[in-house]
Amino acid sequence: MVSRQAEVPLFIDAGLPTGSIRDDVMAGLSRSPRSLPPKLFYDEEGSRLFDAICELDEYYPTRTEIGIMRTRLDEIVEAVGAGALLVEYGSGSSVKTEILLERLDQLAGYVPIDISREHLLASASRIARRHPNLAIYPVAADYTTMIPGLADLTAKHRAVVYFPGSTIGNFQPSEAEAFLTRAAKLVGPGGGMLIGVDLRKDASVLEAAYDDALGVTAAFNLNILRHINREAGADFDLGAFRHRAVWNGEASRIEMHLVSRFDQEVRIGDAVIPLTSGESIVTEHSYKYTLPGFAEMATRAGFNTAQTWTDSGDLFSLHYLVARAGGAGKE
Ligand code: TRP
Repeated sequence: MVSRQAEVPLFIDAGLPTGSIRDDVMAGLSRSPRSLPPKLFYDEEGSRLFDAICELDEYYPTRTEIGIMRTRLDEIVEAVGAGALLVEYGSGSSVKTEILLERLDQLAGYVPIDISREHLLASASRIARRHPNLAIYPVAADYTTMIPGLADLTAKHRAVVYFPGSTIGNFQPSEAEAFLTRAAKLVGPGGGMLIGVDLRKDASVLEAAYDDALGVTAAFNLNILRHINREAGADFDLGAFRHRAVWNGEASRIEMHLVSRFDQEVRIGDAVIPLTSGESIVTEHSYKYTLPGFAEMATRAGFNTAQTWTDSGDLFSLHYLVARAGGAGKE
């Protein structure tokens, strides 16, 4: 058999976001508390380290979400229904999506949206090879922004947004709600959303998930500095920082920090940032929800919760939401 790379042209190319990496980095470091943009985690090494995190004993979210999908696949497929246009936000390598696509054989199409053109086109052609009858519309864009042309496509079909991995937890709650509200508008009344949401649990379990014994998560967190050195002309010394993951119960979030081991100065282009010993830079927050807390947010955003699935240990949850007529604020 001749195996050929399936060519899937970009359907929408919204281009890379404007503004340079150095500007983003400087803006975050100038804030109080100092922070770095978490999207910079995912250079080649960062993506490799994140895949390694997903295999760790301590990092339960990935395998738990996949476990729920496998055990509840019949119900999930029925909830999504036939003839839907599946829109995936931040599709990356689309590993979880494959589980759905194996069984959702009557889709109107699949719309993977990702900020990385290369990642997007590689996984779109892999999916095209495995599912030759599936219409694929790859969109290169930042899914947190308005994507011109996407609404025309979702208006033609009953659209269902797929948003796994508890990425919703990486938004601040007010931004998470605004994001869900935009998704409800995009799919319109009767459209759906299948979303993975990590749940609140013991601080010790959460802190171990974000600070594993092998130090893979620490290496992942520190790697953002190497990426910034390369892309923004900075001179961060990775040995001068330590990884810190801490559960903030009041805010219901895990906080990832890089803590300066001593007083130091970091250069970024012409700028100099002074850091004191023990001063920390926030790299990412990962909010954890309760089932009722998430359902209430979905309701405020204009969705009804049709179904919720969890694992036997109530570690993680999957929700099938349906957009209401009338949108946000009405019940
Ligand atoms: N989105 C993932 C999460 O919140 C990302 C992540 C996993 C992460 N481990 C991390 C981000 C460590 C920063 C540091 O679960």
